[in-house]
Amino acid sequence: MSILETLKSIHTEAMEKLKAGRTAEELDQLRVSTLGKNGQLTAILRTMGKLLPEERAAVGAEANRIKQAFESALESRRKELAAIAQQARFEAETLDVTAPGENKRPMGRLHPMTQTYREIRDALVGMGFSLFGGPEIELDDNNFTLLNLPKDHPARDMQDTFYVNENVVLRTHTSPCEIRALKGVKPPFRLVMPGRVFRVDEVDASHSPVFMQMEGFIMDRNLTLGDLKGTLDAFIHAVFGENVKTRLRPSYFPFTEPSAEMDMSCTICGGKGCRVCKGTGWIEILGCGVTNPHELENCGFDPSEWTALAFGIGVDRVASLKYGITDIRLEYENDARFLRQF
Ligand code: DAH
Repeated sequence: MSILETLKSIHTEAMEKLKAGRTAEELDQLRVSTLGKNGQLTAILRTMGKLLPEERAAVGAEANRIKQAFESALESRRKELAAIAQQARFEAETLDVTAPGENKRPMGRLHPMTQTYREIRDALVGMGFSLFGGPEIELDDNNFTLLNLPKDHPARDMQDTFYVNENVVLRTHTSPCEIRALKGVKPPFRLVMPGRVFRVDEVDASHSPVFMQMEGFIMDRNLTLGDLKGTLDAFIHAVFGENVKTRLRPSYFPFTEPSAEMDMSCTICGGKGCRVCKGTGWIEILGCGVTNPHELENCGFDPSEWTALAFGIGVDRVASLKYGITDIRLEYENDARFLRQF
């Protein structure tokens, strides 16, 4: 092989290796093995002294051309690789700010008691009731006396009371809101009055010293027990669905005359009889009645002109029946594992 041919083959080989080079290190190695102290091209150039003078010019010129061509190819390949590497880095660093987050945070939710409270409230508001309320720490007068339960009335024993002092109690029911309504709201009205109430009770599956009630209170001229029954039926159906049956059962409350309790067909067994309804198929759901004329008189109204209808319902009771919760403690303990189910 002539020296010119050798030069050409070195060049071709170097250019091929150059194309195949994938990294800056590979290119460096190639440069050293071609142009370095012990490089192939350098070795050829060293033998130039042995050439005839007329050959020397041609070989020298060719060697230089190859060297320059190789160096510039090396440089552009280097730039190419750098650009590819930069592009890859840009792609790896791309941040899609519209992508959904990776670690899902648990969603908050409403407590079943809050859900139930809102359902009852919304059913009544949908029927034209307005929200009204009173304080948890209440005058004995409002909680008892003006509701037709004077100091030594035996029915006071029905509700074991936390006394703050002789005249002040933690309200034992939401009925004192009736007194506040009679004294503060101009009739006719339809009011729903929710809130926490308190009774001296040991905690067990069906008792809690604090629980939630809602009082319904309607006042107008010429109201009848039929209006009460119609209102309660519509209300119970709005909360529990059209399929439940209701019945009014005579009862006694000092603040109503006549008084009744409303039962509804058991939501657990559908009325066939089960442990929850004690085999009767019925469950007591609220107390109600036509407001006792004494209560109206106590607040300055003439019972021959005005009639009021009232009912009181326990929110925990409704939640228990809606969700099949058989232990009231679950509703107040706030165990997250329990609450997550609703
Ligand atoms: N206040 C009664 C209780 O806590 C419930 C009740 C019964 C409220 C009859 C009423 C009613 O408004 O008319 O047991």
